[in-house]
Amino acid sequence: MSPGGIDLMTQHAQADHPDSAIINRAHGHLHEMVENFDAALRHGKSKTHITMLIDDLVAFLESHIELENYLMTTCNYPLINAHIEEHGQFRQRFRAILEQAADECYDRGGECKGVMPEIARLHDTHVTYYDDLLCRYLRDRYSFHAVHDGLGI
Ligand SMILES: [Fe+2]
Ligand SMILES: [Fe+2]
Repeated sequence: MSPGGIDLMTQHAQADHPDSAIINRAHGHLHEMVENFDAALRHGKSKTHITMLIDDLVAFLESHIELENYLMTTCNYPLINAHIEEHGQFRQRFRAILEQAADECYDRGGECKGVMPEIARLHDTHVTYYDDLLCRYLRDRYSFHAVHDGLGI
């Protein structure tokens, strides 16, 4: 491999792949939405408002899961089955955390403790493992093709 090829590989290995950048941006947006939900609970927003936020969060998560599933399908991702199965559990757990927190605050008149610790645990079981592996796979594939395209081979 030529020195130019090595430079190209290093450069692209450090760059984010456009698909993994989309995934990471969506994670950031979802995190912001969860923080807003948590703040709304703590500030005693109306139950109607909280229900609307839950609907928005669930809809956004659903579109994000669809995107990841689509990306895994189109790039022949080897861990696709395990990741899709995890999405099913993530979806259920995510909704349950939001609804239980709202239920505590509004229906049972309990203390509004918020959702951040539970969401952080959920994040650690999925995003920092399954999604990170997917992003690394997308990035490494890109590096491989970029090097070969750059060298014209
Ligand atoms: Fe994700
Ligand atoms: Fe995922």
